[in-house]
Amino acid sequence: MKDFMTGAATSAHQTEGGNIHSDMWAQEQMKHSSFKEPSLAACDHYNRYEQDIKLMADASLDAYRFSIEWARIEPEEGKFCEAALDHYARVLDACAACGITPVVTLHHFSSPAWLISKGGWENEATADYFARYCGYVVSRLGGRLKYVCTINEANMGLQVAALSKAAMAQLKGAAGTAGGIQVGVDIRKAMENSRYAEQENMEAFGTPRPATFLSGRTEAGDMVIIKAHMKAMEAIKSLCPSIKAGITLSLHDIQPAPGGEKEAARLWEEEFGHYVPYIKRDDFIGIQNYTRTVTGPDGALPPSGELTEMGYEIYPQSVGNVARRVYRETGIPVMITENGICISDDSIRCQYIHDAAESVKGCLADGIPVLGYFYWSLLDNFEWQQGFGKPFGLVAVDRQTMERKPKQSLYMLKSAFED
Ligand code: BGC
Repeated sequence: MKDFMTGAATSAHQTEGGNIHSDMWAQEQMKHSSFKEPSLAACDHYNRYEQDIKLMADASLDAYRFSIEWARIEPEEGKFCEAALDHYARVLDACAACGITPVVTLHHFSSPAWLISKGGWENEATADYFARYCGYVVSRLGGRLKYVCTINEANMGLQVAALSKAAMAQLKGAAGTAGGIQVGVDIRKAMENSRYAEQENMEAFGTPRPATFLSGRTEAGDMVIIKAHMKAMEAIKSLCPSIKAGITLSLHDIQPAPGGEKEAARLWEEEFGHYVPYIKRDDFIGIQNYTRTVTGPDGALPPSGELTEMGYEIYPQSVGNVARRVYRETGIPVMITENGICISDDSIRCQYIHDAAESVKGCLADGIPVLGYFYWSLLDNFEWQQGFGKPFGLVAVDRQTMERKPKQSLYMLKSAFED
């Protein structure tokens, strides 16, 4: 499989630690926070990136997907931080020194707190702010970049909105179901906290209802994200036309139960289909998949069979199914930017990776251009509102000493993709 990238993924806020200028940090510090615990030093990846990259190289991985943190690069509106930029230059150099191809994401859920005070991801101007930040990064680091993802899981806000709506309906005693959500948010806790939230949000952001990236998204907000992506693509391509760039989307393998065909088609259109007109000139589509959704006529059915520690059905073949479908419907190369399992028993993770790899290799055998596979995640890390203690990683992290403890799965990942 010449040129196929096999690697692992992380994001800045979940691993680096000390992301103090971000909206997430502010929310974690609130008295009635919806976060189980604050990220604090996270995995100290900001200081230990060399060791972490070396771990991947020692396991023969050849690619690393990580994110550059906007809140570090632009901690105050219009003021760009050279030291943060130099840090990421060093991370990219460390990858190069280890023969690892970097795939850089420019936005992975966390945003600068100032952006949220200005209306966040429901404000039209955010598209321009984002493109300006992307232009700054690419103008300085572009020569070191081959692959860039603009926005991680652009569709996540719509999934959060659907889930909140279903949770509200249930509270009111009405029937309401939504597909599961492939991320560690805690809708119930957020709803319980809502009576304190307005005041605390006013203090942190100067607005009672901040539109962060993980807030429930309106249709207008969805367009802001699409525009942000398109403007970022223009900025990247005008500065460095050789960079291959695209967006990433959280995509379930949506399967209809008998009678659920119409609902399955509706869910796929919301999750994927309606973005296609805006991404059809992109170089690739980043697929982030963790499970399948089986849907009846009134919505998703509860997951069945063996579950992960996030409560998802263990269904490794979903990643290949989604890659096939996305390519069939767009003709655009795909990259598996995230796929993984939250489980303490590493032997189950090894089996999962083996089976997921088989499904991806099946796609390649059928001529589908899959550029690479990134296991989520390199490290056991900060699973957003659900805090630490959600073991997705190939490497465990002792949070007292920050010692890294590689698991068996780290060493079998590369071979799972070999012929
Ligand atoms: C996100 C990650 C998250 C992972 C596991 C994806 O939705 O991009 O940030 O940790 O899923 O829930």
